[in-house]
Amino acid sequence: MSQGMVTPKRVDLHVVDPQQEELILVLDFGGQTAQLIARRVRDRNVLAQLVRHDLSAERIRELRPKGLILSGGPASVYGEHSPQIDPKILDLGIPVLGICYGMQLACQAQGGAVRPGHAREFGRKELRVTQRNPLFDGVPDTSTVWMSHGDQVENISADYVELAGTDTCRFAAVKHKTQTIYGLQFHPEVTHTAFGTQLLENFVKNVCGCRGTWQISSLIEREVAALRARVGNSRVICGLSGGVDSSVTAAILYKAIGSQLSCIFVDNGMLRKGELEKVRSRFLNHFRTDLHVVDASERFLSELKGVADPQQKRKIIGRVFIEVFRKEAESIQDARFLAQGTLYPDVIESGGSADGPAATIKSHHNVGGLPEELGFELIEPLRDLFKDEVRRMGLELGLTEELIWRHPFPGPGLAVRCLGVITPERLTALREADAIVLEELRKAGLYREIQQAFAVLLPVQSVGVMGDGRTYEDAIAVRAVTTDDFMTADWYPMPYPVLQKMSTRIINEVRGVNRVVYDISSKPPSTIEWE
Ligand code: XMP
Repeated sequence: MSQGMVTPKRVDLHVVDPQQEELILVLDFGGQTAQLIARRVRDRNVLAQLVRHDLSAERIRELRPKGLILSGGPASVYGEHSPQIDPKILDLGIPVLGICYGMQLACQAQGGAVRPGHAREFGRKELRVTQRNPLFDGVPDTSTVWMSHGDQVENISADYVELAGTDTCRFAAVKHKTQTIYGLQFHPEVTHTAFGTQLLENFVKNVCGCRGTWQISSLIEREVAALRARVGNSRVICGLSGGVDSSVTAAILYKAIGSQLSCIFVDNGMLRKGELEKVRSRFLNHFRTDLHVVDASERFLSELKGVADPQQKRKIIGRVFIEVFRKEAESIQDARFLAQGTLYPDVIESGGSADGPAATIKSHHNVGGLPEELGFELIEPLRDLFKDEVRRMGLELGLTEELIWRHPFPGPGLAVRCLGVITPERLTALREADAIVLEELRKAGLYREIQQAFAVLLPVQSVGVMGDGRTYEDAIAVRAVTTDDFMTADWYPMPYPVLQKMSTRIINEVRGVNRVVYDISSKPPSTIEWE
């Protein structure tokens, strides 16, 4: 999305209809992977939803889930203010799977003892299954699991049996003897646990009896119904950035409320070649509602004149964006809501899961930009979803493959790739070089293999020779990275022939550039962008 975003407020748009859908509730104790559990279950075609950890047994009964998963969390179950469950949920007759903290809670509530482990345990361990159970169908007797805990269950009550252990954790998997309550000390939701997906599938299918008929289209229908109910006859403004998240947000809103949606696209003058035309034509192909394109490029350029400091550039762009966006939004009659494409990873990275005690990792670019005093109510239909779920949703909503697989582009745009001062001439050179990089990647069939690629214009001149003359011109760096989550990234080992084409074309076709270099830094310690 663009640089302007609103502080998140928790708005739960999912209205569960227990008559229609098999539902698994994931009670959130603040673990970083709580939403990942829900997502893994959804990957098995069963609707899973993250809910507050202190949901009452009464409310849970009303929602009629087929199973409950208690997530991990950073607290100690014996800590003074540790998050607890309503103990009555263990007697509802609904299958329960406690993971890490969740297991410790269930065991403690039913007479077991939890203590700090001899050492905090993080990383891979070998799990040995000691008693066969439908939870372990398809899981070999020994397999790798991922542990991440300080405390562990030291003793189980007589009501429990152990199912599996590791050399440092005797009770790595346990089960209640008569109730359908399971506990896992390790994390089945992370990919490092070799048979984690199998274990979760076994829980939802073998233990909870789910058939697994849920589809992403059911989620769309649910969201559409919830959006209609919430928005009523009001108007919703959606800031388009040209990227996947804001486009899917607009598309789902459009499906729900049609022409009550107004979109705003701010041209900050830092767009890539042809970007504005692409956004406009995609919009016209998909939407029959109003698009406000605000050409603020001159304003941005004049405010950025002479500024070379990266932080200063970002600040100016952020401020001007808010001013421009606010002015345009105010011109739209009857607008009550502002929609934005916040995804779950943005929320968790910002520690913004207000319902859960997740620890903050970092402040994300995408949250906290547009100030709350814009005066709109916030709508975030993608707030519970991961990127690939959003992509699936976008395809289902009819957006093009090209858009869905587009590399991310930062809100401040080319400004953070035009190192040093920004001038129209330097932006033009960068824009041309960037277009060549992307074109050659596509031609080589590598665009989808790489998660982000672009050109950077360096504030460095070097000597060259062109024809018979000496040149003293700019240098372009080409950056291409592979990454799962953009938090860490590797530089991509670009085939030489592709590099060769990029370099030859950039030097021949881009005026003012006589040198091309390839960036071979990974993140960390570098970042993906240069500024
Ligand atoms: P870094 O450079 O921090 O980038 O490794 C990680 C990802 O975030 C994108 N990025 C931004 N996105 N506004 C955005 O919307 C920004 O200010 C911004 N800065 C970096 C970057 O392109 C990469 O995908």
